[in-house]
Amino acid sequence: MQKVFELDHPLVQHHLTHLRNKETSPHIFRAQIRRLAVLLATEATRDLPLRTKTIETPLTEMEGSVLDLRIGLVPILRAGLGMTDAILDLLPTAEVWHLGFYRDEETLQPVEYYRKFSSNPPDLVFVLDPMLATGGSAAAGIRMVKDWGAKEIRMLSIIAAPEGVAHVRAAHPDVNLYICKIDEGLNDSAYILPGLGDAGDRIFNTVPPERSERGSASAEQ
Ligand code: PRP
Ligand code: URA
Repeated sequence: MQKVFELDHPLVQHHLTHLRNKETSPHIFRAQIRRLAVLLATEATRDLPLRTKTIETPLTEMEGSVLDLRIGLVPILRAGLGMTDAILDLLPTAEVWHLGFYRDEETLQPVEYYRKFSSNPPDLVFVLDPMLATGGSAAAGIRMVKDWGAKEIRMLSIIAAPEGVAHVRAAHPDVNLYICKIDEGLNDSAYILPGLGDAGDRIFNTVPPERSERGSASAEQ
């Protein structure tokens, strides 16, 4: 039975506020995404299985514990890339496989443009995408990881809309969701409110000047 974990931690609230602020420059935005990704991954790895490993410290032999399964990270391009390196620092032996989707702005349906999977899937896959809006991209990404053959899948998102959570829950009742904050809902263009705008554009600084509300001063921060 699926569970939805919404993080309840003062550090999450603090870093989310800076992430959402439209005055936050791209390089601070990327740093905030990484910090929140670490907090999410800490929660999403709380129950991972361990095996005993005998080691010697400089003083004595001891029985330590190490992770006991193959883990894969699947960032959904582009914005999921912003979370990947930070989580790899926590899970340095994880494999990284990629899925590329963009959301068609007319139909709001995810359109696949890239998939790089091996013939031998990891045991546990963390699907990474900071934004879960309608849930279309996450549900499609999880579908592909299931078809690939991963035994267990967990979805990690920084901000979600209730509509997106409901969509993924209905499509994939076996996949746990880890979310920093479930926001109020979607606007008429299916952007999350209050949200943070377009995560991919803010990570990669690809907001065309005529659409940017951030101004040149904040871009120089
Ligand atoms: C964003 C986001 C998700 C998707 C969420 O990607 O990173 O992948 O939208 O929307 P949904 O839940 O309604 O599917 P986008 O399509 O903007 O692509 P990008 O990451 O390349 O900017
Ligand atoms: N994608 C984003 O990057 N932000 C939203 O609010 C919705 C979809």
